Amino acid sequence: MANIGFPKGFIWGTATSSYQIEGAAKEDGRGESIWDRFSKTPGKVGDGTNGDVACDHYHRFRDDIALMKSLGMQAYRFSIAWPRVLPSGRGKVNPAGLDFYNRLVDALLEAGIEPFVTLYHWDLPQALQDEGGWTQRSTAEAFVEYSGVVARSLGDRVKKWITHNEPWCTSMLGYEKGIHAPGIKDFRSALAASHHVLLSHGWAVPVIRAASPGSQVGITLNLSPAEAASPSAADYDAFRNHDGYFNRWFLDPLYGRHYPADMVADYIKAGHLPAEGLTVVKPGDLQAIAVPCDFLGINYYNRAVLRSDKVPEAENHPRTVFLAPESEWTEMGWEVHADSLRRLLTRLHLDYAPGKLYVTENGASFSTGPDAQGRVRDDRRLAYLRDHFLAARKAMDAGAPLAGYFVWSLLDNFEWDRGYSQRFGMVWVNYETQQRIPKDSALWYRDVIKANAVSEP
Ligand code: FCB
Repeated sequence: MANIGFPKGFIWGTATSSYQIEGAAKEDGRGESIWDRFSKTPGKVGDGTNGDVACDHYHRFRDDIALMKSLGMQAYRFSIAWPRVLPSGRGKVNPAGLDFYNRLVDALLEAGIEPFVTLYHWDLPQALQDEGGWTQRSTAEAFVEYSGVVARSLGDRVKKWITHNEPWCTSMLGYEKGIHAPGIKDFRSALAASHHVLLSHGWAVPVIRAASPGSQVGITLNLSPAEAASPSAADYDAFRNHDGYFNRWFLDPLYGRHYPADMVADYIKAGHLPAEGLTVVKPGDLQAIAVPCDFLGINYYNRAVLRSDKVPEAENHPRTVFLAPESEWTEMGWEVHADSLRRLLTRLHLDYAPGKLYVTENGASFSTGPDAQGRVRDDRRLAYLRDHFLAARKAMDAGAPLAGYFVWSLLDNFEWDRGYSQRFGMVWVNYETQQRIPKDSALWYRDVIKANAVSEP
């Protein structure tokens, strides 16, 4: 059993997002978000729940910070609820909303925990959705206004900024598949949304830098390390299309390479785009999106194995096929495959050469709860995290400039369309009493952080 060390200064933390934990949905002038509207629309969230109360973090943040401190967390990635700050999306600022985040940041710094702030983790003000949401360029403009307001308020103390969490989910889950808010099912709208999200990132970066001198700014993508199920040309093409749709569609423009031409051609051929291509792209947009960033954030959960013969007629994309029946699966139905994290980080380093990488999310849904003694023996989560930490370490040996790792999530929380049925937390939450119990994985993580090392199994 070897002890695998991480470089000095490597940052260990944990991540959450506003709608998933805060609750207090109607307090202190918070406006309505698309997730309030969506979760209250019958049939949208599996267990019929919503984020009205969630983990009540809005009222309990001091206790939650004390808990993080006791676990030795060095950094905390959280998101700002746009409708708390600008209840109508733009225009009038709600000072009480900003105050909350100021108190949160101050309490974190007092506890010696570095804040990593995500500006957009999916809770768009409903007022902007009423104008078309991310299908509209005006939403990108509103995002820049919002980013400036937040950065001017927190930017003297917050030095790590993430513009967007997972643009693929915002655009494709929200506007193509319709399983996330705003629940639209129209691929052309999804492609427009993806462009406006990326554009808003590119426009916001210089605004954040100006308001928060000396800060580092980046974006977080959820990437899908993919492989073809066989060496056949058809399977390779299914892989190419999946990689283009999930990964290159976002990476290429961010790294100055325009939208991938093969994908634009696929979409024109399939009738998803007009013959002229991506007409939402205006002169200057691609230069704006390719603004150099300080880091790239990666959220990793699972891989995809592609087979051409599994392309369902009715879908736009090849289906993911998991080939290994002996694989382990989390309760989300996601295959556990740590080595794909190594492959992903190594590929990013070789193909895009980001100056710095963070794993901004990685974790697993297992519902293991307290035993008779009140202890939560979540050994499967613990093993999942250990294997993924070790895989990331191997990518670092191959040159990937990984500077930190954020476990998803600190707390069990509202898992979007799955409601409270999925538990990703290192800390158990009793939703009736709001009691928190650190699971075995949290106590093990505390030891990892302390040693800055992971023991091999
Ligand atoms: C990611 C989201 C995060 C959480 C995890 C499980 O896609 O960013 O909010 O839901 O999945």
